[in-house]
Amino acid sequence: GQITPVPEPPRLPILGNITDIDAENSARSLTSLADKYGEIYRLHLPGTRIVFVSSHRLVDEVCDEKRFKKVPNVVLAEVREGVHDGLFTAKLEEPNWGIAHRVLMPAFGPMGIRDMFDEMRDISSQLALKWARHGPQKRINAPDEFTRLALDTIALCSMGFRFNSFYAEGLHPFVHAMGEFLTECGRRSQRPPLPSFFYRNQDKIFQSHISVLRETAEAVLKERVTDTGNGRKDLLAAMLKGRDSQTGEKMSDSSIIDNLITFLIAGHETTSGTLSYAMYRLLQNPDEYRKVQQEVDEVIGKGPITVHHMQKLPYISAVLRETLRLDSPIPIIGVHTAEDTLLAGKYPVYKGEFINLLLTKSHLDPAVFEDPLAFKPERMLDENFNKLPKNAWKPFGNGVRACIGRPFAWQEAVLTMAMLFQNFNFVLADADYKLQHKQTLTLKPNEFFIRAILRDGLD
Ligand code: HEM
Repeated sequence: GQITPVPEPPRLPILGNITDIDAENSARSLTSLADKYGEIYRLHLPGTRIVFVSSHRLVDEVCDEKRFKKVPNVVLAEVREGVHDGLFTAKLEEPNWGIAHRVLMPAFGPMGIRDMFDEMRDISSQLALKWARHGPQKRINAPDEFTRLALDTIALCSMGFRFNSFYAEGLHPFVHAMGEFLTECGRRSQRPPLPSFFYRNQDKIFQSHISVLRETAEAVLKERVTDTGNGRKDLLAAMLKGRDSQTGEKMSDSSIIDNLITFLIAGHETTSGTLSYAMYRLLQNPDEYRKVQQEVDEVIGKGPITVHHMQKLPYISAVLRETLRLDSPIPIIGVHTAEDTLLAGKYPVYKGEFINLLLTKSHLDPAVFEDPLAFKPERMLDENFNKLPKNAWKPFGNGVRACIGRPFAWQEAVLTMAMLFQNFNFVLADADYKLQHKQTLTLKPNEFFIRAILRDGLD
């Protein structure tokens, strides 16, 4: 093929393309640039250049881990201040990534996740009970409530810790510190490069939030080590007991703390966003809504939900998959180029250059998905899902650096959907609501309120 330079939007001398990106919603700006410049473009940002790919064929090519490897992007680089080489923020070559990955894989496997079902149901039931008590008139901020659910679930299942977010007046100090920490990570990644004394106060507050996170996690760890009679089988237990199959090493205390905090960060907004977007899609699509309710009524009926139901709700799974295609809470993943190379045999990219995969766009590629903007869960039923081209659906990331929490998130989301649709009918609190997104570390619906009307009493 003929060499084709990667399109580059016009830029300013020093700031480069920084003014092309809306700090409040960079995912939207980057998608609009793809609409304008096509399947690949390059931006120049202070100190760095980033190539963006957004067609299925280019995303597929960049998923080749021999040629392209995950690197923590600019925001993740800030998150590293708090959780170092924890699983999410580690560079692949850092030894703690491999050790933690191998120690934790079994705990995140199907057996490990099944063992967590009862605790997950405990938290989902708290949500259902709270909504039942609210009554049908209450405006429910769905993303906020799903965030409480996801946080309480991951804290309980990973380390036996209860935030009790549904009942507490204010936020738990850990949760407050985590929110502030993540917001500040976003701000830091966009700071103008001024001398460090200029940021002294912010930096001090940032460090104090990190201390709260680490001291809380450390206290949980210490308590577990001394409480030898505790027979819990959770992620903390797996990390304390496990040995790396390759090196025979155990995880250090500091690596365990990094990863406990990592699970809370990685596991709460993503799951919350998924449930919120799913609720939104179903409220926009009454036929699909009815099919979810029908499946729950036929498979579960009015009795208790058990772990055995989890494999028997294919339509709910398809709804979640289709939701994640249309709105991925993590809209972009980043890799870095090992050698000078050509993409699609014609676009030159250079060694060390960052490439971002724009999932928000590749998930809508008309070459793969007919009528790409339509919400059609049928296309995600196993028989169709399994026939999708490779790397056409990537909401959980890629290869060895894909989401280790996927089975965890899936069980929690399926269970929660089943519990909610078993017990309630839902309506939009604002009939004319138009989907808006709120971007923090992840994307979620913004200002999205629903009302929950009991069907016929909780069992
Ligand atoms: C990695 C998505 C839930 C823990 C990732 C990545 C994505 C992702 C896209 C790769 C990021 C990258 O390439 O930089 C999601 C979505 C979720 C979800 C959409 C919910 C629907 C969870 C949960 C946990 C979790 C519940 C913890 C229990 C992690 C960890 C990694 C990761 C530790 C890093 C894995 C590694 O690099 O070794 N996730 N995630 N995630 N996720 Fe999730």
